[in-house]
Amino acid sequence: MSVTKKENKDFSFSKENLSLAECEINKYPKGREGSAIISILWLAQKQNKGWISPEIIDYVAQFLDLPKIRVMEIATFYSMFNLSPVGAHHFQMCGTTPCMLSGSGELKNLLHEEIGDQNYVSKDNLSWVEVECLGACCNAPIIQINDDYYEDLNVNDLKNIIDDLRKGKEIKSGSYKDRLTSAPLDKNIRMFTQDEIEKISKGRKKPGLEA
Ligand code: FES
Repeated sequence: MSVTKKENKDFSFSKENLSLAECEINKYPKGREGSAIISILWLAQKQNKGWISPEIIDYVAQFLDLPKIRVMEIATFYSMFNLSPVGAHHFQMCGTTPCMLSGSGELKNLLHEEIGDQNYVSKDNLSWVEVECLGACCNAPIIQINDDYYEDLNVNDLKNIIDDLRKGKEIKSGSYKDRLTSAPLDKNIRMFTQDEIEKISKGRKKPGLEA
């Protein structure tokens, strides 16, 4: 936590982010400040228009008093960290099995056609990358754009999203099949009734462990 603005000419936390970073560090015991590394890198990436530059790696290493390689290990392991510039709207397309089986291949082709290669920033400031499971497989296929998830997508939905972003319009996050959060699409599929829950729980030795 000893880096000052003068010591790093290329990157330093804004006043607001410096105070947020200090809050993150204070969550950990003394001597374990390095445990805040993911939050600190995330703040730095946000401040730097969505990507982690080599200067940020240096800065964060000094900030947390960690060897540079430890910061590199984290920054290169998680796909949430971008190691090259991204567009103002950065698409992370899930290519893992449930999304692949639900049509992510077609979404990927469209991203190629509309934006270009992965990690390329288009003239209209869009970029995309294929990532592993985004943890929302029940609403596959999923694309994350900046901080929000876009779910149950088909090619037309994605084309409309791209067109709207290009026109500077607001886009709707969440399910594109009007699903309520991750509830079943078939409205006839319902949750257990209170009677059914009680019947199941009667046979349990410890609630929540076995049906
Ligand atoms: S496989 Fe795509 S969100 Fe899990």
